[in-house]
Amino acid sequence: MINVAIDGPAGAGKSSISRCAAKKLGYIYVDTGALYRTVGLKFSLCGADTSLDCDIERILADTSVDIKFSNGEQRVFLDGSDVSDDIRTPQASMMASAVSAKPQVRAFLLEMQRKLARENNVLMDGRDIGTVVLPDATVKIYLTASAQVRANRRLKELLEKGEKVTFKEVYDDMVKRDYNDMHREIAPLKKAEDAVVADTSDCSFDESVELVLKIVRERI
Ligand code: DC
Repeated sequence: MINVAIDGPAGAGKSSISRCAAKKLGYIYVDTGALYRTVGLKFSLCGADTSLDCDIERILADTSVDIKFSNGEQRVFLDGSDVSDDIRTPQASMMASAVSAKPQVRAFLLEMQRKLARENNVLMDGRDIGTVVLPDATVKIYLTASAQVRANRRLKELLEKGEKVTFKEVYDDMVKRDYNDMHREIAPLKKAEDAVVADTSDCSFDESVELVLKIVRERI
């Protein structure tokens, strides 16, 4: 199977670029951030906040996370319900970042990700795909852009969805989340040694997709 690992900070356009590149390659696109968001949602529903001052094991033991593909589109399920839309709020982002720092949560989601990669040609994006989940991936890409550019892209997405947010809120959230993701003890966001860096700060969406495809095609 061909496994393409794409890691990088929040708002680098990973999901939209990866989704489009995967379609062109005919691979399944796996958005692993959605899995952490789903677990985060579960903890919110259980009344936890980002301090996660709760019995993590007990909640996980009573949690089922599933990933299904319909017309090539990934949907995520929490305890049997499709929560793919509910996990896209700024609050869900912060909870996702909080739960993702917990080793129990990472262990809980690891095998599901590896299984998908064993059974399919995948383009999988996240923070630790090239470093932890798929260390033997066929191609590893570290997709990034400046914080200013990333915050602007994320702001546009949220405004289009009708969220009431300002640039400063999005930027501050992003910088905080980058910090959390890069400084946590377990599976911190970092470039795998053998990853190719793709900086899309000055690229249009189409150019970013082309850049990813070029890197993949040169290596398979
Ligand atoms: O990519 P995203 O913004 O949907 O990710 C949500 C959070 O989940 C993010 O703060 C970091 C975390 N995450 C992770 O720790 N490991 C992954 N493979 C994917 C996401």
